[in-house]
Amino acid sequence: MTIKAVVFDAYGTLYDVQSVADVTEDAFPGYGELITQVWRIKQLEYSWLRSLMGRYQDFAVVTRDALVYTLRSLGLQYDEPTFARIIDKYQHLALYPDALSMFEALKDRKLAILSNGSPDMLNALVRNTGLERVLDATISVDAKKVFKPDPAAYALIEKVLHTPPAEVLFISSNPWDVCGAKAFGLNVAWIERVTPEAMALACVESETVAPLTMFKTLRTQMDELGVHPDHRIHALSELPALVSARS
Ligand code: 2OP
Repeated sequence: MTIKAVVFDAYGTLYDVQSVADVTEDAFPGYGELITQVWRIKQLEYSWLRSLMGRYQDFAVVTRDALVYTLRSLGLQYDEPTFARIIDKYQHLALYPDALSMFEALKDRKLAILSNGSPDMLNALVRNTGLERVLDATISVDAKKVFKPDPAAYALIEKVLHTPPAEVLFISSNPWDVCGAKAFGLNVAWIERVTPEAMALACVESETVAPLTMFKTLRTQMDELGVHPDHRIHALSELPALVSARS
C-alpha cells in the first residue's frame, strides 16, 4: 500500500527533549541531568495516569506539574522566573539536525505531527523552529482529551488528514508510542536512537549508573507489549528512502 501521509511524534522524535539539559544545569548546577531525566519520566507518567484516571489536563499542565514534582523531590528551592525559564525551553527545543532535509525530501506526501503536546505548546515550537512551512497539519491529542497511546488519539490522523491508517506511516522514537500506533493499525517506523550495543556499553563504562543511562534503559529500548514496528531506522535521514521503497 502506498504511503500518502507521513506523521511524526514530536518530543524525542523531531525534537530533542535532552536539549533542556543546558537550562536545567544552568538553573541548578550539578543537577541538570537528573532534573532532565526525572522531569521527562514524570511528564510521560502523568499523561498516562491522567488518561487512566479520566482527569485529562493538557500537556502544558502535565509538563509543569512534572517539573514541580522533580524540583520538590530533589529538595530544590526556586523562584518563579527560574521555573518560567526552564519551562520556556519547551517552546525552543532543538530540532534533530536531519529533520529539515528529511521534510524537504518528503514534500510530495502529506506531512504532519501527532503529539501529546497541547496546541499552544506545539504551535509555538513549530513556529520557533521553522516547521510551519513544511507541515500540512500539527495535530494535538487535546482534540480528544486523552493522551497517546490511547487509540482515540491515533484516530485523529484520519480525521484531520483524511488518510486511512493503511496509507499512513507513523514515526516515533518513543517505544511506548510505537507500540500504541502499531496496536491501533498504523504502519510504524521506530527510530532506534540508542542501540542495544550502545546501551550495554553505557552500563559497563562507569560504576554508577548515570541518570541519562537510566533514562535510556527505561525509555529508548523496545517495549515488551506484544507488538512490533514495521520498520526500524536509526535517524530521520533514513526516512525518504524507506517511504520511496514502499511506494
Ligand atoms: C509526543 O510528542 C509525548 O513525545 C510525546 O507526543
